[in-house]
Amino acid sequence: MAAKILVVDDDPNVQRLLQYTLKQEGYDVVIAADGAEGFRLWGDELPDLILLDVMLPKLDGYQVASKIRGEEASSSHVPIIMLTAEREVEQKVRGLRAGADDYLIKPFHPAELLARIKSLLARFAPRDILLARPPMGRVLAFYGAKGGVGTTTIAINAAIALHREMGRKVCLVDANLQFGDHRVFLDLGLDKKSVVDIVSAPNIDVDLVRQVMVKHDSGIDLLLAPPSPESADLVHADHLPQIIEHLRSLYDYILIDVDKRLDDVNLGIFEAADTVFVVMTADLSCLKNVRLILETMGHLGYPAGKVHLVLNRSNAFTGINVKNAEGALKRTIDHQVVNEYRGAISALNSGSPFMFSKADSPLGNSLLQFTRAVDKPETADAGTVGAAAR
Ligand SMILES: Nc1ncnc2c1ncn2[C@@H]1O[C@H](COP(=O)(O)OP(=O)(O)OP(=O)(O)O)[C@@H](O)[C@H]1O
Ligand SMILES: [Mg+2]
Repeated sequence: MAAKILVVDDDPNVQRLLQYTLKQEGYDVVIAADGAEGFRLWGDELPDLILLDVMLPKLDGYQVASKIRGEEASSSHVPIIMLTAEREVEQKVRGLRAGADDYLIKPFHPAELLARIKSLLARFAPRDILLARPPMGRVLAFYGAKGGVGTTTIAINAAIALHREMGRKVCLVDANLQFGDHRVFLDLGLDKKSVVDIVSAPNIDVDLVRQVMVKHDSGIDLLLAPPSPESADLVHADHLPQIIEHLRSLYDYILIDVDKRLDDVNLGIFEAADTVFVVMTADLSCLKNVRLILETMGHLGYPAGKVHLVLNRSNAFTGINVKNAEGALKRTIDHQVVNEYRGAISALNSGSPFMFSKADSPLGNSLLQFTRAVDKPETADAGTVGAAAR
């Protein structure tokens, strides 16, 4: 059956052009000339995808998208592509926040429009099948070889990419219990629920965990760190493994941003994780720490494939290149993420991760490659971490 596309645009020329282009490709097309009609036809026609102009009479495109997202059932999601005349990043972010999945700046080439439609239909069409299958429940811990190497940046953006690009159901846990950064990086207030709301309940069950998760505009769910450093003490070493087990039954991927300490809380997380990504940069103190971390993981008897090394800012000039670093560690670096200070810092300061608002940057592409490698089916690994040396 042909996919049905709802076009919401008040310009008769655009309507005609889109109708022609889409019909040529074999899609069914329904046209609405204003926002209110667009919203009504979404309910009446149940389109498979919506092309939504921003500047519309009655309700504008942002309002239509928000209304649809507010009213659609939690198990369904109609993909929306915003058509906008504006190039500004803020407009783009506003569109994405309102609930759009993609956007196109007018004028655009029909081939680009068709490519984006195909990709979104592919991402969302098998949703029923995806929902019917049990979650993959893979737990990925991100651990910095030292402070400030970019662990949080990588964990947040990988989580968003796994959801938005691979269509996975993803949650992100801020396990920096005292000084968690996710509220700042993701522009969320102190009033949002946190892990404290789970651990202070008499019983931890899956319904409680589900209720405490905070939805982010990008489509991922968050388990936030306590709002203040004092309350971090309420979280004990045995809490997180219990919570992680519940999260496994709800999500395809559980990404955990771990702080630097090698204490019981973090060891519990490593134990529960399927993969530990040790994030590093190419400098001597990181190399020293990575060696110690690999040794410790080896003593703990973790299988070789459990620990992956991620070299962040891999092309930054530090005097130590990838080969040198691999030579010093006597093992390969599994993943690399490029250096793009401006992109990383401006995303951070705007509270909108680059994978959400600027995925087409070099840093966004690099992160996407990393997540593609992560999302590949696992190959069988043998031996322990100590045996991972080349
Ligand atoms: N690939 C990158 N290229 C350029 N700058 C980056 C990159 N990744 C991270 N940064 C920058 O490095 C700084 C530290 O990043 P981030 O907070 O993610 O690190 P962290 O390891 O989580 O730090 P902490 O130890 O405080 O938790 C930020 O200013 C961030 O913008
Ligand atoms: Mg951090």
